[in-house]
Amino acid sequence: MDKVPVSRLEHPGSSAMDPSSCRFLAGFVRALGARRIIEFGSGFSTLMMAREIAPLENNYLLSIDDSPQYSALAKEAFDSSGCQARVEFRVAPLRPKLYGPRLLLSYSLPKGLLEALGPFDLALIDAPRDYGRESVFYDVFRALSPGGYIILDDANRVDAERAYVRSWQAAYDQAIDPILLEGIGDGLGVIEKLSEAKPAYPFAGSLKVSLKTMHNFGRLLFHPERIIADQ
Ligand SMILES: C[S@@+](CC[C@H](N)C(=O)[O-])C[C@H]1O[C@@H](n2cnc3c(N)ncnc32)[C@H](O)[C@@H]1O
Repeated sequence: MDKVPVSRLEHPGSSAMDPSSCRFLAGFVRALGARRIIEFGSGFSTLMMAREIAPLENNYLLSIDDSPQYSALAKEAFDSSGCQARVEFRVAPLRPKLYGPRLLLSYSLPKGLLEALGPFDLALIDAPRDYGRESVFYDVFRALSPGGYIILDDANRVDAERAYVRSWQAAYDQAIDPILLEGIGDGLGVIEKLSEAKPAYPFAGSLKVSLKTMHNFGRLLFHPERIIADQ
């Protein structure tokens, strides 16, 4: 991590991943030799990862955001950085979708797109807090290579990310190996995909998450500015 500088001039502050999480992320991309990356939640993290993959052949970073405004800002920052990595920004609105018994906010992307653009070596989940984070794992799992990793930001949060990881463990059992790095930023979840598996979406907590999804979807539709207040 010490070998990865994070410029104070570039780091946009609290809306982005914590600087130490950025350092870990970039160091992890480097150590893994990741070439193909997907992320949900565009921003400073895009630049940090793009810089790591830029020297590698056939590099590709697909950065997805639900907000046209923040996607454009992230693209602007990347374009003006001079980084030569191949980065594609996409906007995909968050909509409710059923995953077995769980109604979750999910990025609306054409069916099969992620698998067609993959396989990816690494996926970063830094979607807006409380919006879309659980579903991303289910959507991205098949597009990730076995031996690939998913990194989850803010992994210490008890009623949110820790609960998502429990659901993913229940759904994928032996096919994934999650580790929580509590001391970096507000926690980072590092989850290895060990093998292919079909998810057994858990019933536990389904009613609660489904009600929360409806509540959050209402907030998204009628008070989109509330998301900004949550960052
Ligand atoms: C946790 S942020 C993503 C941060 C990004 N991975 C980074 O490191 O900068 C989650 C969402 O917040 C939104 N966002 C980005 N910049 C923001 C800002 N300055 N204020 C409020 N929301 C922002 C984007 O829509 C993004 O998907």
